[in-house]
Amino acid sequence: MTPTTSSERGTWNSKIGFILAAAGSAVGLGNIWGFPTQVADNGGAAFILIYLLCCLIIGFPVMIAELAIGRRTQKNPVGALKALSKGNSFIPLIGYWGVICGVMILSFYVVISGWTLAYVFEELFYFFQFESAANYVGDLGNGLKNAVFTLFFMGLTILIVTGGVSKGIERATKLLMPVLIGILFILIFYIFTLDGAKEGLLMFFKPDFSTIDGNLLLSAMGQAFFSLSLGMGALITYGSYLNKKQNIVESAAYITIFDVGIAVVAGLLVIPAMFVAQAGGVQIFNPETGALFSSVTLVFDVLPEMFHNIGGFVGMLLGITFFILLGLAALTSSISLLEVPVAYVIDEHGVNRKKASWIVGGFVGIISVIVSFELSLIDYFVMIFNEIGLPLGGLAISVFLGYFWKSENALLELEQGNESIRDSGFYTLWVILIKYISPVLIGLVLLTTIWSFLT
Ligand code: TRP
Repeated sequence: MTPTTSSERGTWNSKIGFILAAAGSAVGLGNIWGFPTQVADNGGAAFILIYLLCCLIIGFPVMIAELAIGRRTQKNPVGALKALSKGNSFIPLIGYWGVICGVMILSFYVVISGWTLAYVFEELFYFFQFESAANYVGDLGNGLKNAVFTLFFMGLTILIVTGGVSKGIERATKLLMPVLIGILFILIFYIFTLDGAKEGLLMFFKPDFSTIDGNLLLSAMGQAFFSLSLGMGALITYGSYLNKKQNIVESAAYITIFDVGIAVVAGLLVIPAMFVAQAGGVQIFNPETGALFSSVTLVFDVLPEMFHNIGGFVGMLLGITFFILLGLAALTSSISLLEVPVAYVIDEHGVNRKKASWIVGGFVGIISVIVSFELSLIDYFVMIFNEIGLPLGGLAISVFLGYFWKSENALLELEQGNESIRDSGFYTLWVILIKYISPVLIGLVLLTTIWSFLT
């Protein structure tokens, strides 16, 4: 094991660069594809409410914890927890679990990201009336085509991570995030002018509390962890490139608000768009159950039909813009998923960044090709590594910080860049949340899930 020098690890160039990179990691398929799908699936505004609560009382405190651990140790999740483990051999397992979750989540994330690219072509081919080509790239079940787009996307991700922290990740996200936000708002303004949009808005804002059950709680919590990029040490890793002048609590607040805001805004786009599709004759309700059709493929099934219905050049332009938006959001997230195992290999095995990126990326690429052909794996991976794995990681991080590393030590780290935090009520609140509320809530939801498996 060769420890690496900090110059080889890299640091963020600017405060805003870090916040954008972390927000870029957070804002991704989870916001624009996952969140609206889950809202549609789980009784509209009732899900939103539970989700917001999860972000606020579990996500935000865990994010502060991850950033503090990362900046304190300046290491990847495994190295970070080793450094603070005082020789305890169980503690670093939290880091290893994070690295595994990163690899496995990325391996299906890039398949879905590949679909976003494929649909850019689908919209183009449809416009030029190359019908069979459009059908070919639009076929989500075509394994070979999936694999090609997936590997292309994986390649892009590897190239950015190869560039390093400030020259790769920070530069790419600083460029991509403003474009993404611009596109999002343009699309919303257009969709709102179409028939059916109002109905979608109503569904978004009208809660159906009868849908709240253990399953919904697990989905909302899993979604909160996934969307905020928490529970596997991605923000330990991003925090490890942070300088001591930056205010961690303030940065975490910006990242959380930004991510939740974009999810809600994306919901305002995607859900009304589904109803616009319906107004145009696309079936979005299951005629037998009366429930909204909803699955991993919802966005890819329904929205292209809507763009086709709008038709002509405008329809194509909107379609292409939407899928580019989705692809860009996915890219700034996939780089953070890859950065975790890559940082682990760089720090703990003394491999240089370029080699580490290609080795880890290549490995993920192989799994993602298997997923491309066997899409049913996505459901299992989501269940194990996202819905259970991330909250489990978050639980472990909370317990580790609260009872092993101890909040007073975390406070010493949080004070750097935020001198007044010691005497603020916020610190006390944070300790209560991280020591008691977050472990108990996460534990309860996970137990409910395991219970429902067994019975
Ligand atoms: N947050 C991203 C999204 O919403 C996905 C993601 C990127 C992620 N990095 C992560 C999820 C780390 C969990 C952990 O799409």
